[in-house]
Amino acid sequence: HVLVTAGPTREHIDPVRFLSNPSTGLMGYAVAERASRRGAIVTLVSGPVGLPCPVGVERVDVVSAEEMKGAVIERLEENDVLVMAAAVADYTVPSPSATKLKKSGGVPRLELKATDDIIKSIASLKGGRIVVGFAAETDSVVENALGKLVDKDLDLIVANQVAVPGSGFGASTDLAAVISRGQKTAELELMSKAELADLLLDRLSGLFRD
Ligand code: CTP
Repeated sequence: HVLVTAGPTREHIDPVRFLSNPSTGLMGYAVAERASRRGAIVTLVSGPVGLPCPVGVERVDVVSAEEMKGAVIERLEENDVLVMAAAVADYTVPSPSATKLKKSGGVPRLELKATDDIIKSIASLKGGRIVVGFAAETDSVVENALGKLVDKDLDLIVANQVAVPGSGFGASTDLAAVISRGQKTAELELMSKAELADLLLDRLSGLFRD
């Protein structure tokens, strides 16, 4: 039983405006699809993306980081693996306007608050589950990913360079590496998101055998 998150979250300012990021969901959907093909029972918690749900996968649609957190926590118990491929917003608008803000009201002052770190908040609930994170980085990619692996108490992390053409948000390929606990270094390699998903699932299967 594998729980995968994918896509961005949207943090609404008013009904027609939001804060978000360029995530398209391709990576999380590739993981969900490949895991399902390998025989896993897959639930995909998805932010707003334009992708069809992979065959055989159950999809749960969410919008905000708070909704994604609720959906993950609700389903954690029945899953053996959590793969957090979603690009969760780090900031949200605590009191979004229920009605469209009008220009005549002047430029709004946005007061933001931090969202909960979903993967960190499940650390005490994870038990024997395998938890996989992604690190979207523009610099010191492997070093930053190694830091997140320990800080977020993960079993595996995908270090991903998101600031070069052909890698990261919206690209079909990634300059990335899958890093395990205890690993000290890694080489980034350019591969398709499908290949990266397969590499990740191979490493995951290895952890089950250990
Ligand atoms: N993540 C999460 N909850 C958040 C933010 C991130 O669960 N509120 C998860 C992501 O799904 C990913 C991992 O944490 O698996 C790392 O996300 P990333 O955006 O790279 O790191 P941040 O913790 O947001 O750190 P920073 O923005 O400072 O790089």
